[in-house]
Amino acid sequence: MIIENNNINIKISKLAVLTSGGDAPGMNAAIRSVARSCSHYGIQCFGVSRGYQGLIEGKIKPLGTRSVKNILNKGGTILKSARSKEFMTKEGRLKAHETLKNQEINNLIVIGGDGSFTGGYIFEKEFGVSVVGIPGTIDNDIFGTDSTVGYDTALNTVVEAIDKIRDTAISHNRLFFVEVMGKDAGHIALNTGIGIGASEILIPEKDKGLDKLLKSLKRSKKSGRLSSIVVVAEGDKIGKNVFELAQYVEENLPDYEVRVSVLGHMQRGGSPTCFDRVLASRLGLKAVETIASGVSSQMVGIIDGKMALTPLRKAIKGETSINPEMYRLSNILRL
Ligand code: F6P
Repeated sequence: MIIENNNINIKISKLAVLTSGGDAPGMNAAIRSVARSCSHYGIQCFGVSRGYQGLIEGKIKPLGTRSVKNILNKGGTILKSARSKEFMTKEGRLKAHETLKNQEINNLIVIGGDGSFTGGYIFEKEFGVSVVGIPGTIDNDIFGTDSTVGYDTALNTVVEAIDKIRDTAISHNRLFFVEVMGKDAGHIALNTGIGIGASEILIPEKDKGLDKLLKSLKRSKKSGRLSSIVVVAEGDKIGKNVFELAQYVEENLPDYEVRVSVLGHMQRGGSPTCFDRVLASRLGLKAVETIASGVSSQMVGIIDGKMALTPLRKAIKGETSINPEMYRLSNILRL
């Protein structure tokens, strides 16, 4: 069999892969791609269970091509995930390094978000382990890629859920505040808000202010609108939380009957969309080819349809901003 190696000079014989932080649909597709790309290049692949915490506890085992069968369409992560406090300490990272050393592994692919990359960046600096990141989070708040693995699926999950909420909102002439995930970023709220035709979209990047919100809702009522959906990003600061915000609006606009729906962790689950499966598969291969050719401390991403490498330190520190054109669009169409 001829192995097409795309002119890549393979410099490693082993690597480990882990998923860390909040899980995201498509992480399994990324794991599968990493394991199968390794097999393609004759690299031995190891899977670490429960992220950095598992690395500290020595939870590592070979990940063959067959062990990733039938997972492409599954939500969650077969490797499980965790947010490890211990890995934030030097002692924790020392133990994690021992685990890799025992297996003579010096290459680590981290599938996760901001916090996971910060951990990987420090780990590489301290112990010289080569680290390459694959952006996996529903929040899409990572610099260096147009979309993170899981984001597209989360958008579709939210749109489907709010479409159902709208049915009951219309039937009762109610105003619904729907909270979506995004503790620091409004990408999910902005895009789904446009997708479902929200009356208002509240995101951390834009401070609307309570007065403006009340005015706008009043105007909307006057114009004859009977029911409304306001999409609120979890990290929006307009009210203390979505329940207090809803109460405030109900007290000040008695014409409205208000309800709150917090979508919560259901946004992180479910079968990944085709977009996320393909994205994760492409990034998995690129991550293996990057680390195997001796390049490290990078995150793989896709910008304008093309593969892109971004230094981990930039991916962590880089500002991800919302698209102003989308925000303008949402303001024009909501009336
Ligand atoms: O995955 C990112 C995220 O969805 C954030 O938007 C949210 O605040 C957070 O995860 C909550 O995660 P957990 O409950 O796992 O701490």
